[in-house]
Amino acid sequence: MNDELERIRQRAEQDLAAACDSQALAAWYAQYLGRKGEVTSLTRRLGALPPEERPAFGQAVNALKTTLQGSFDRRQEEVRRAELTQRLEAEAVDITLPGRAPDIGTLHPVTQMIREVTDIFAHLGFQTVEGPEVEDAYYAFDALNIPKEHPARDVWDTIFIQSESREIVLRPHTSPMQIRTMEQSTPPVRVVVPGRCYRYEALDATHEWHFHQIEGLAVDERITMSDLKGVLAEFARQIFGRERKVRFRCDYFPFVEPGVDFAIDCMVCKGVGCRVCKGTGWIEILGAGMVHPNLLINVGYDPSRYTGFAFGMGVERLVMLKYGVQDIRAFYQGDVRFLAQFNRAAA
Ligand code: DAH
Repeated sequence: MNDELERIRQRAEQDLAAACDSQALAAWYAQYLGRKGEVTSLTRRLGALPPEERPAFGQAVNALKTTLQGSFDRRQEEVRRAELTQRLEAEAVDITLPGRAPDIGTLHPVTQMIREVTDIFAHLGFQTVEGPEVEDAYYAFDALNIPKEHPARDVWDTIFIQSESREIVLRPHTSPMQIRTMEQSTPPVRVVVPGRCYRYEALDATHEWHFHQIEGLAVDERITMSDLKGVLAEFARQIFGRERKVRFRCDYFPFVEPGVDFAIDCMVCKGVGCRVCKGTGWIEILGAGMVHPNLLINVGYDPSRYTGFAFGMGVERLVMLKYGVQDIRAFYQGDVRFLAQFNRAAA
């Protein structure tokens, strides 16, 4: 009898040693110590034994139970620990790995240039304001001294969006904000106006149907052409280098008199002549001039008391000149490889 119990014990211990996870342990427990387990069933044999053998057998079975329960408890603890270690290892995070740097977008080069330019003018005393892209023809043309049927109206290849009762256009330049600003304030006026413009235009390397301009306007008593020259020279030197030479030549724009074309000496060839300046040594940056008295009259300013200067420049053109961009269409094709080159943080 004791031999049998000993055989069960040995087999149970062997099986227990082989049980490596909680599932196997549970199965082992059911097989030996559970309600229908082998050891438990042994007690049922008690009744079949002669009475004098029962106490010894009962004790032996109880001893076996206690031994196996002890072994089971120890083994269960071992397995629990092994499983925990395994899980911790599997879930381990290597905190010494370098982090993955998130891709951070960049400001569009046009936005960057607008900020750079408006910042320069802010230091010269100019406030930055913005105006509507959908504009009344009165502000886009008439009030700017470009009456209907004036041939100069054709210069701006305008996109019209309504024409019966009121002529509404997508603004072809930011100049209408000269009028709106003066209407809403009294001199002194000093503003720069960045904004999107639209023209009915065939696309090529230097023409887009939508682009950006920055308009400038200063009106006060005793403003002269010298003020215009000083302001523009300082602006150009901050953007294109302190050593820049500047040039003013006569030009015609209906809203200024006199009107000028403002140029800097070519920063690539230093004025010798190259592909960028088309061999002339000069690069035209913007149009400008002294505000035409008719504009002042249109907004109710007294032209005998006030004078002013105005200028307007193309933002994409500035970026192209400063960074050698060959094709204006690159700005609006959304090619990240192009745009990422203007990442100042990375530069
Ligand atoms: N509005 C002009 C254009 O779109 C640019 C310009 C020229 C603006 C002379 C001005 C100026 O204010 O005085 O071509």
